[in-house]
Amino acid sequence: MKILVLGSGGREHALVWKLKQSPLCDEIFCSPGNAGIAQICPCLSGSPVEVAREIGADFVVVGPDGLLADGVVDDLNAAGFPAFGPTKSAARLESSKIFTKKLLEKYGVPTAKFAAFDDAASAKNYIEAQNEGPLVVKADGLAVGKGVVVAQNKAEALAGVDEVLGIAAQTVAGDAGKIVVEEWMSGPEVSFFALCDGKSLLPLCDVQDHKRVFDGDLGPNTGGMGCYSPVPFFTPELRETVIQTILKPTLRGLQNEGVEYRGVLYCGLMLTEDGPKVVEYNARFGDPECQILMARLENDVLPMLLACAGVGDEKLEDFTPKWKRENAVLVVMAAQNYPATPRKGDTISGLENAQSAGALVFHAGTKIGESGEIQTNGGRVLGVVGLGESFQKAREIAYDATQKIHFEGAHFRRDIGWQAG
Ligand code: AMP
Ligand code: GLY
Repeated sequence: MKILVLGSGGREHALVWKLKQSPLCDEIFCSPGNAGIAQICPCLSGSPVEVAREIGADFVVVGPDGLLADGVVDDLNAAGFPAFGPTKSAARLESSKIFTKKLLEKYGVPTAKFAAFDDAASAKNYIEAQNEGPLVVKADGLAVGKGVVVAQNKAEALAGVDEVLGIAAQTVAGDAGKIVVEEWMSGPEVSFFALCDGKSLLPLCDVQDHKRVFDGDLGPNTGGMGCYSPVPFFTPELRETVIQTILKPTLRGLQNEGVEYRGVLYCGLMLTEDGPKVVEYNARFGDPECQILMARLENDVLPMLLACAGVGDEKLEDFTPKWKRENAVLVVMAAQNYPATPRKGDTISGLENAQSAGALVFHAGTKIGESGEIQTNGGRVLGVVGLGESFQKAREIAYDATQKIHFEGAHFRRDIGWQAG
């Protein structure tokens, strides 16, 4: 088969790396890709449908949320290309918080209580009428991880309405003016991933991401500064509770509403005192989480992705994902000034030494410079993965590798996986 992967981050590097190992994969391409992906397959530019036509793709794997929200799977399917990922309508699970909150409420899936508003004034009136205390204010649409304000009091929540609307006006695809105000929840956060073929679920595994830029979970939110898996406190009982009380009813709800969901269900969970509750759903693999999932997965991933899209005879429920026994820790090396205004164009050295020391290095924001050198080209530059018998060993491998890699302004957290012991 000829496979095309769409996207340019660490998630897509990990997908290309894993898919290329499949006996079913004869050729693989990526668009637009990055410097690391270019070392393992051709990277092409152009619209997704144009590129799929150019190479005669048999199957397209879509990485990023923005493409899904824009309906790339509908476009590819209409042009005759089967693709992995939800259609535009199904991707509302990520691209509209109001759609998802209403769905979860209707089908009794545990999540924070919420109210939805079409404009700032009505959201503010509602906030004024609440008791003093923390509240969470969210823009309805995709806002590159920046559309959420966790407010400690009413004044912060009122300011949060303008803040998320300001961000939404610049970044949100879709309905930029809508707002959700949520009850505040507390507890550890875990991400759980499952594949879905519209009818059945294939649970994958749990990962914990570190969203804040600085050690000790301080500083502004990012797309994720590192992650680890498996999560020791996400017990088999909790996993079963999440599958039975959250994932299955969500899928039933989607089916009842006439939405055929094919792709990844990425469930952001909070483990509250009252049990696990949904923080959000995403309609794609997480980044950097996908890098860890691909590093830990023993099975060939391609047949599973094909089954999600309904290509071929294999059924999703017939697969049993097997995970490496080792623990995995991923450290994101970020560019100078990330997350505010990351600097681009710094030369990266030492990548080969990091890999030969036993780490897996996935490229996120990199490009090839004019003289062939690898340069930074985004906020999150590299994902450095260590696999080890213990978390301590996995951390050691990942952090030793970060010491071998150099670029001006590089920064990373030193405490990835601290909760895992
Ligand atoms: P989201 O984009 O919805 O995942 O929200 C981003 C982050 O905001 C989450 O990872 C949580 O840390 C925090 N958050 C979102 N909703 C809530 C909530 N209802 N209560 C507490 N924290 C929340
Ligand atoms: N790492 C968070 C995300 O992919 O949304």
